[in-house]
Amino acid sequence: MAGPRAVALLALLALPVPAAAGGPAAAACDVPPDGRFDCGPERLLAREGCEARGCCYAPAGPGPGPPWCFFPRGYRSYRAENLTVTAGGYTARLRRVVASFLPGDVGSLRLDVGLETPTRLRITLRDPARPRYEVPLATPRVGGRAATTLYGVQVNQDPFGLVVYRQRGGQVLVNTTVAPLFFTDQFLQISTCLPSHFISGLGEHLTPLVLDTAWTRVTLWNRDMAPTAQVNLYGSHPFYLGMEDGGLAHGVFLLNSNAMDVLLQPSPALTWRTTGGILDFYVFLGPDPKSVVRQYLDVVGFPFMPPYWGLGFHLCRWGYSSTDITRQVVDNMTAARFPLDVQWNDMDYMDAKRDFTFNKKSFKDYPEMVRDFHRRGLRYIMIVDPGISSSGPPGTYKPYDEGLKRGVFIQNATGASPITASLPQVWPGPTAFPDFTNPETHEWWHDMVKDFHNQVPFDGMWIDMNEPSNFVEGSQDGCPNNSLEQPPYVPGVFGGRLQAGTICASSQQYLSSHYNLHSLYGLTEAIASHEVRGKRPFVISRSTFAGHGHYAGHWTGDVSSNWEQLYYSIPEVLLFNLFGVPLVGADICGFVGNTSEELCVRWTQLGAFYPFMRNHNDHGTRPQEPYTFSPAAQAAMRNALRLRYSLLPFLYTLFHRAHSAGETVARPLFLEFPKDPNTWAVDRQLMWGGALLITPVLEPGKTKVSGYFPAGTWYSLAGVCAPCCTAGSQVADSTIHSKGQWILLPAPLDTINVHVRVGHILPLQEPAFSTTESRKKGMALVVALTLDGFARGDLFWDDGESWQTFERGDYTEILFLATHVSDGGCAHLDGVLLEAVTVLGVTSPPRQVLANGVLVSDFSYRSDTQVLKVPVSLPMWEQFVITWF
Ligand code: NOJ
Repeated sequence: MAGPRAVALLALLALPVPAAAGGPAAAACDVPPDGRFDCGPERLLAREGCEARGCCYAPAGPGPGPPWCFFPRGYRSYRAENLTVTAGGYTARLRRVVASFLPGDVGSLRLDVGLETPTRLRITLRDPARPRYEVPLATPRVGGRAATTLYGVQVNQDPFGLVVYRQRGGQVLVNTTVAPLFFTDQFLQISTCLPSHFISGLGEHLTPLVLDTAWTRVTLWNRDMAPTAQVNLYGSHPFYLGMEDGGLAHGVFLLNSNAMDVLLQPSPALTWRTTGGILDFYVFLGPDPKSVVRQYLDVVGFPFMPPYWGLGFHLCRWGYSSTDITRQVVDNMTAARFPLDVQWNDMDYMDAKRDFTFNKKSFKDYPEMVRDFHRRGLRYIMIVDPGISSSGPPGTYKPYDEGLKRGVFIQNATGASPITASLPQVWPGPTAFPDFTNPETHEWWHDMVKDFHNQVPFDGMWIDMNEPSNFVEGSQDGCPNNSLEQPPYVPGVFGGRLQAGTICASSQQYLSSHYNLHSLYGLTEAIASHEVRGKRPFVISRSTFAGHGHYAGHWTGDVSSNWEQLYYSIPEVLLFNLFGVPLVGADICGFVGNTSEELCVRWTQLGAFYPFMRNHNDHGTRPQEPYTFSPAAQAAMRNALRLRYSLLPFLYTLFHRAHSAGETVARPLFLEFPKDPNTWAVDRQLMWGGALLITPVLEPGKTKVSGYFPAGTWYSLAGVCAPCCTAGSQVADSTIHSKGQWILLPAPLDTINVHVRVGHILPLQEPAFSTTESRKKGMALVVALTLDGFARGDLFWDDGESWQTFERGDYTEILFLATHVSDGGCAHLDGVLLEAVTVLGVTSPPRQVLANGVLVSDFSYRSDTQVLKVPVSLPMWEQFVITWF
């Protein structure tokens, strides 16, 4: 047979268990408790109701645990027929053989198995008779089928089920025969066993990096909700990455935007339960976790490239109530010698809390303030909310008048008028919500943004409240009573109803009902906002969906100022990197409630390693700008900021790798060390790329911190790159030779532990008070040699803000190999000097050091640390060679 050998139709033995009075046969109910799948998803059933469904009943203890009513083995739902070969893979017809217990069974389904690439498989289940809503995400179109694949597929005929396994070794990755398939109008469910307990993903939640498989329900439905455990939050990313024995990894993405629950149980197994759309799965074979992420991003889109200034320090709070106060904040930062790249304003700038207006009293010199910031080398960003106020008389507020005329607002269920929501604390009176699935809305949005930009030359957009958030339930007139508002199955959404905290599910959008499109609101607004300006865009959004990172970044919302949320910010940042949204960070020092000096110092140290670094604060809480703290605290924060600014060329290069090759920026350890299972759950540390390991202090009153160091040599960054940066004054610049172990590190309050991994070269630059200045400073290299004297690294450099420099070829990329630098025309590096090279792991004192053949007499070498420091003054735009012997 032509095509992959792996794919075969195996009509495995079907064991139909007919429902009998008194329930199924005892043998069929002999299912270990951890492997039981719930037969009463929509309501609790007593024995009678359970057995009437043909299911088994076995009461267990209270609390999360095995379902009392569960499917017997071999429970029938669909049967696979007519499996045939297609150009892309396989297709089959599924026929419902036993009616389900939920309304709206789709009796006949079309199964398509697309062998899209050697490592990517797509499995879709659709209703061939009636097109259903599908997520409007542009995924790769594949003409044919992969000739050889890492995966094999088996189809079980009756009951229908699919098995996806690794060709090599036979590890089963997906096996849906463990429980029956449901495909009704508003309830679609499919279960699979998992190869291990280590699964990560399924955001957005307040969760450790590795999900708990002990009977956990994970709900996806975007919601304005301050981060709280076990609750659906601002974004939906129905993607998980699973680790397998030996360090292999796979991933699964369900391309579906309806409200859903994902259930995890200890056998281990996972159940997808969604309330609409189709079942559209991608399976990624890796075989290593980095490849899984890249394969996922091949489908949803590689991250956008942020401007260089976007990686600097951002300062914001709700409550900078005038231009005078905002200007004063910037002055205070300068006076206290803190770097600052971007000053922000929250809603305070608006006139009557309306978008695209500003208060002509307190912000009367607003445009001038922004221009002043520009003159000082700073950038400026302000908040924009999606709700458009409709309360004024016609002719007084252009965004609403124009929007109404151009039909851009989401309509109520009958299509008679825009749905009106109310956010009394945020927007005055009733508001209408733009429908960003409508191309006309993009035009209108561009016009409004451009009009405003003509007045106030802002540099980026902060799009908030875009779940969308609504402070009345549904609308001011309530919601109709229909099946979209009250579906037969309501996932575990906070508030218990789909319209809780948002607009009516049955309101109408251009592409479909809000019921289907709700979780795409932030993504579609981000797309519209990303397209707006001529320069490289910078958009930070609260609501996200799969594919968001292609257009915008994310901040993690209203985190509280406490130590627990400081910790949770690490897994959140790491998970968003796995989701392809590397530009992510939490509000440094916390948003809700008063911070403390110690917490704020530790948060600033960790925040210096968030890809997106912003200190933001709620109104009415104690100030937390760096200059408001004691001199000692300020010094510690200054160190952290200077360290970040020193590392910006490295960070920018990581963003380029994310943008051009689908890599992560902030990275969980297991991505670099998948074969070391000790790394799999590490989420109190993070890496930058493959080279830096960051071990922050996450608890009060601690001057030591324990971190896991995968086997190998790790050099402390403290001391090695001074004077260009300092990681803290008191950390011994000792080297760690780890066998793969936990190590207790000194961590006084002025210190964050950062270690360089052997074999890497980091490009650094002397810090300054903004990137406008630091980009002109000298560069330095930190070279961490392996025992055999090897190291490599790279630098991506461009003008930092033009649109698509990589795509247009207007950039320089330098590969550093140990002491050898490749040549090439180095655009944008004109005038930038390489001023220092620090080489780690030089085992014996050099007798001579040469830079481009010229003797360097003032090099220094320490035999205790094996660090060689070479001061140089070499043009970065020319080839250079440094040798020592
Ligand atoms: C909610 C956002 O999460 C928060 O960051 C912002 O300060 C407030 N809205 C006010 O705009």
